[in-house]
Amino acid sequence: MSTNRSDALVFFGATGDLAYKKIFPALLAMVRRGRLDVPVIGVARSGWDLDRFRSHAHDSISEHGEMDDEAFAKFASLLQYIDGDYTDVATFEAIGNALGECRRPAHYLAIPPALFGTVVEQLAKTGCTREGRVIVEKPFGRDLDSAHRLNQILLHAYPEQRIFRIDHYLGKRPVHNMVFFRFANAFLESFWNHKYIESVQITMAEDFGIKGRGAFYDTVGTVRDVIQNHLFQVLANLAMEPPARLDSESMRDEKVKVLKSVAPIDVKNIVRGQFRGYQQENGVARGSTTETFAALRLDINSWRWTGVPFYIRAGKLLPVTCTEALIRLRKPPKIFPRAACDSNYFRFRIGPDTSLALGVTVMDADDKMTGEQTELLASRRPGAGEPDAYERVLGDAMVGDRTLFAREDYVEEAWRIVDPVIQAGMQVQSYEPGTWGPAEVDRIVAPACGWMTPRV
Ligand code: BG6
Repeated sequence: MSTNRSDALVFFGATGDLAYKKIFPALLAMVRRGRLDVPVIGVARSGWDLDRFRSHAHDSISEHGEMDDEAFAKFASLLQYIDGDYTDVATFEAIGNALGECRRPAHYLAIPPALFGTVVEQLAKTGCTREGRVIVEKPFGRDLDSAHRLNQILLHAYPEQRIFRIDHYLGKRPVHNMVFFRFANAFLESFWNHKYIESVQITMAEDFGIKGRGAFYDTVGTVRDVIQNHLFQVLANLAMEPPARLDSESMRDEKVKVLKSVAPIDVKNIVRGQFRGYQQENGVARGSTTETFAALRLDINSWRWTGVPFYIRAGKLLPVTCTEALIRLRKPPKIFPRAACDSNYFRFRIGPDTSLALGVTVMDADDKMTGEQTELLASRRPGAGEPDAYERVLGDAMVGDRTLFAREDYVEEAWRIVDPVIQAGMQVQSYEPGTWGPAEVDRIVAPACGWMTPRV
């Protein structure tokens, strides 16, 4: 693997918000773990110099990461900074000079998607791609057509094996663990199919709003921001077949197969919501129809899943912050008197904590044989110093492990599924902050036993 290791990291968007909140802390953690010891060249157009850039990195890590003076001194010595416009060839000549003899630079694009094409074309034109890689942040395109065009631009400059499309959800341990857990244990397989599973629901709730990202968020909305990418990855991990081998392509083949089995979303099966007050946020257009909430239903037409509805809901300013997937089994035959919803379920909690739970019915406390629901719960706190999602994905990209990245065909399949919703120009329904979205959700896209409210 070491001959494959990137020998420089060129980091576009180095003075931006994502860099400040997530990337510098992840890079410092990589230095501390001995996973980063090559030049890190920040590129941006902020009129800064190297000193200012280093002190910005220091502030970022102090505020959002774990400061370690010794590791920071090492990190600071790796940092370089190039100030320049992404449309100016001089910027890329300066990058070429800074790269010197490096053969395998990883160019990381933490910049607005509209600039991906420009930067990649300039990298190719000025010979900065070399034998290196490109790491691209989400959102990858705006719809099927733009994602396809972006793929063409990237593939013109890099072969697919050297393109790393980031979805930081794939770097989350509990998301990765879904696949491990499913295929490392025999008991799940006995019920993990349409004969026993009644429905699947995936919830990504956030109790905060758009956090000053109005100008970005208003061009994106919930479906593009988190459903087409993060939550489809969760869906693919829950629904995929066991891979033939453990290499990245075998894993990614199985995920693509899941998406290929999903029909485009029927606009009758989605509710789009917008929290009251959204249009007064900075950067948001008055009269905006961007959704800050969506709930939808999908069907996977495969041997394993035909007849099992998959529900996804996600939104801002909901009652709690929690991401989890709930797999509800069909009801057991009726022997005992029972409540309306006493089917077993399996629950994967992705955040804020990590847990696995099996929902079961036990004899009630009064021995009336009516039964009550409880959970067999296994929870886990992240171990001290466990890599966070960004550290994991950036570290993997630097050594060329593609498992935790979205492949070209996967990304385009994901857009194909949501495209009808994006193109339809549908209405948004208003909802009150602190609620579970518009009232229409329970009428139009609700699982048979209803949405399970996450207990946090
Ligand atoms: C980002 C979205 O990709 O993921 C945000 O742009 C969202 O809107 C975030 O809040 C959630 O990620 P995490 O890791 O905080 O759950």
